[in-house]
Amino acid sequence: MPRAVFDYVDGAAGEETGLSLSRAAYRSYSFVPRVMRDVRDVDTSRTMLGKRSALPIVLGPTGFTRMMHHAGETAVAHAATDASVPYVLSTLGTTSIEELRSRVPHWDPWFQLYLWKDRGASHELLARVRESGCDVLVLTVDTPVGGLRLRDERNGLSIPPKLTPATLMDMAKYPRWWSNLLTTEPLEFATFRDSGGTVADLVDRVFEPSITTDDVEWLRGEWPGRLVIKGIQSLEDAVLARDLGADAVLLSNHGGRQVERGLPPIELLPGVVEALDAKTEVFVDGGVLSGADVLIAVALGATGVWLGRAYLYGLMAGGQAGVERVLSIFAKEISTNMRLIGVTSLDQLDGTYLSR
Ligand SMILES: Cc1cc2nc3c(=O)[nH]c(=O)nc-3n(C[C@H](O)[C@H](O)[C@H](O)COP(=O)(O)O)c2cc1C
Repeated sequence: MPRAVFDYVDGAAGEETGLSLSRAAYRSYSFVPRVMRDVRDVDTSRTMLGKRSALPIVLGPTGFTRMMHHAGETAVAHAATDASVPYVLSTLGTTSIEELRSRVPHWDPWFQLYLWKDRGASHELLARVRESGCDVLVLTVDTPVGGLRLRDERNGLSIPPKLTPATLMDMAKYPRWWSNLLTTEPLEFATFRDSGGTVADLVDRVFEPSITTDDVEWLRGEWPGRLVIKGIQSLEDAVLARDLGADAVLLSNHGGRQVERGLPPIELLPGVVEALDAKTEVFVDGGVLSGADVLIAVALGATGVWLGRAYLYGLMAGGQAGVERVLSIFAKEISTNMRLIGVTSLDQLDGTYLSR
């Protein structure tokens, strides 16, 4: 695909230090394997928010997914559902929750919300999400404003991509990507197809600098299902999220795409797990690129790990088959490393299997 699209996925904010630190943090751990154990049968499954998943993995919400590959959210939901792992549709998705439900009937809908000040509009969207059979709502709270994504600025990325002299030249290099973009349904924010706003209006609504705990309290009252708060970056806010009624917190700095030089979320994990009671599940994301990374997070107390770029790289490379391949690589790495570390179920993993 065109450079600008790849960079939109691959890039992060500022000098991209937040992302590289998150990736490096996983590499600072080594396993301390136990041997001479029977590891013929390993169970890689995990219960997350009351649902059994084949792996301790969630495919996290990513916007504009049909820009990465024309099959977009439908491809990701198929791959995730076939592999028995959850997939979270983003508010900024290019397929609506109703469409995705009808295209992938077995998909268990998890939905990521950006909360607006306009409570009427939020209320309406929540009702649609609920009617689609969704029980897990993920509220993202690390986007008061957009991050400073320098690659996008340099590349002049517009969403959706516009036909300019530069993009027309690009077409000669990537004819298949462009022809898929132009011959399939329009690339737009599917959730708001009928709302009449421009792309810029909608992005403005998403990056809402005045959201506070009052709005989260309001949401908790409106939403009867499970609530995950995504974008927690301090111990204090993890406790606050629990007190606001979150069923789970996701320690995340948006994969380094928002604040520059954010703390690697994995660094917060052990302290947060200790501070929260077992009733509040703790998830982590950012910089996870292998099954070994996943096992490190689980050993440090995470209920599960969310992926962003890892599955998008697969999607960009090969559509649904690419996402399936990513998931099968993670499954293989998780089961093989579990055997080599000497555990047969994820519950057996703890800090004694790690050294730093
Ligand atoms: C291209 C892209 C789009 C994203 N869009 C959203 C979004 O719409 N909503 C959201 O909550 N997070 C979004 N994220 C953040 C991811 O959910 C996740 O927190 C992050 O990608 C984790 O880091 P990783 O990519 O290193 O795995 C996006 C990430 C990427 C890479």
